[in-house]
Amino acid sequence: MEEKNGLWKHYEQNFRVGAVLNGFTVRDPEITGLICREFNSVTCENELKPEATMVRERSEGNNIAVSLEAAAPILKFCEDNGIALRGHTLVWHSQTPRWFFTEDMTPDGAFASRETIDCRLESYIKNMFEALSSGYPELKLYAYDVANECVSDDPARTAADGMREPGFGEGKSPWVAIYGGDGFIERAFELARKYAPEGCSLFYNDYNEYWDHKREFIYGLCRRLYEKGLLDGIGMQSHISAEPDGFTGVAAYTAALEKFASIGCEVQITELDISCERGKYDAEAQAAKYRAVFSAALETNRNGGRVSAVCIWGSNDSNTWIGSDNAPLLFDSDNKPKAAYFALMQAE
Ligand code: XIL
Repeated sequence: MEEKNGLWKHYEQNFRVGAVLNGFTVRDPEITGLICREFNSVTCENELKPEATMVRERSEGNNIAVSLEAAAPILKFCEDNGIALRGHTLVWHSQTPRWFFTEDMTPDGAFASRETIDCRLESYIKNMFEALSSGYPELKLYAYDVANECVSDDPARTAADGMREPGFGEGKSPWVAIYGGDGFIERAFELARKYAPEGCSLFYNDYNEYWDHKREFIYGLCRRLYEKGLLDGIGMQSHISAEPDGFTGVAAYTAALEKFASIGCEVQITELDISCERGKYDAEAQAAKYRAVFSAALETNRNGGRVSAVCIWGSNDSNTWIGSDNAPLLFDSDNKPKAAYFALMQAE
């Protein structure tokens, strides 16, 4: 095990600092070395999503079989190196096979009933937590995104039941179609509460959380779940740009962070990347924005908030979902720390 003295250490008294691994980056010793040195949380980029874990061939009746094969090298790396894992994600309209939702479990059948999906959901959640704890008994699973991206971006919808449009594909939600509204969210949290191991906080995770109408809706939804004892925290994905003001600016961002923290639940920044928008913003502007986000998290905690992790969505600028030309991460393509990294090592 390498000596650990990087970013995670700087923030140890406040929150975990995380990064992402995937099936490719976990095989790159320079990247795994960097993770050991700088971070104390890892999220699997795609390997724990329903499409990577649900196994049609072995599912029987409404019991959804699971496989951790894709995630295995990452889970093993975390377990061996004492790095905590954020689970991502159980209930999502995206990256979930259509057969899970259909009566006959075929990719093109008609949607099943709510009762059927309730059973399948329970088995999936139960089997996932069992596979994780039996396969990786020493793994510290400290947080899990139970439900991801359920709330609509459309102000007309957040003024009503807040959910995405029912359907499949193009951003539509089969969950909403089958449950006829938001009932699947509470159900998923009840089941996660039943099967998650001790010490694993349960999260609702979403994006565009700094958009006022969406922020208010997420606030109400999560407050109700928190008051029922089902939810432990809110995840702010935070795929933002280096612009200091405007839609993803520091003021809008901080307002959302403070509003969510005021519930009393944990808040985690779960998928932070700060795009330079193909050179529109330079490394210094990006560093200032990274520092502002981390400083806002520290300040929230000074004011009694419970920000428990800030996680970066990627390992280096060659391994980012939004394209290397946006250079959104803390390390460049050669794993060299950028201005943003040094700014974070100074933030207080
Ligand atoms: C992204 C991954 O980074 C990509 O590799 C994949 O092709 C699509 O999903 N919100 C989420 C993450 O919750 O799971 C998404 O990850 C990024 C947006």
